[in-house]
Amino acid sequence: MERSLVLIKPDAMQRGLDSAIIARLEGEGLKLVAFKRLQMDKALAQKHYAIHKDKPFFQGLVDYISSAPIVAAVFAGENAIAVIRKAMGATDPAKAEAGTIRADFGLNIEHNAVHGSDSVETAGKEIGLFFNEDEIGDY
Ligand code: RTP
Ligand code: MG
Repeated sequence: MERSLVLIKPDAMQRGLDSAIIARLEGEGLKLVAFKRLQMDKALAQKHYAIHKDKPFFQGLVDYISSAPIVAAVFAGENAIAVIRKAMGATDPAKAEAGTIRADFGLNIEHNAVHGSDSVETAGKEIGLFFNEDEIGDY
């Protein structure tokens, strides 16, 4: 069973959209196998987005994701990564397909409501940044 890390970003938390986003992903047939609310510190944010460390938007991204509480969750299911990426829509909400989470809830490219892992390899790394294996329970 494939796993993916999902983050409900500060903009969605501030608008009370966490439950709606979780419900949409469960509606895709995925199982919520780990869940916690936390505020990321800068060190965790830098690790989580390390792949973007040379991009011009990196510092803003780190500052933003660590600016307020988020929800971190692990979803499991067949093709969980691709299913979640499709349900999220394009990075820029203005370009996201109608009916996707980012089209419906994202504000702009920085405040785009949700994060989802983009490969099996990054999912494994990202899940390990937020959860110990004994916090992830399939059922
Ligand atoms: P995420 O990692 O958050 O799930 O988003 P993603 O895969 O769709 O996009 P990615 O390329 O990994 O970029 C990570 C986050 O950086 C912000 N971003 N800003 N200002 C910009 O041009 C720009 N480009 C990307 C977005 O908030 C994106 O979610
Ligand atoms: Mg990404």
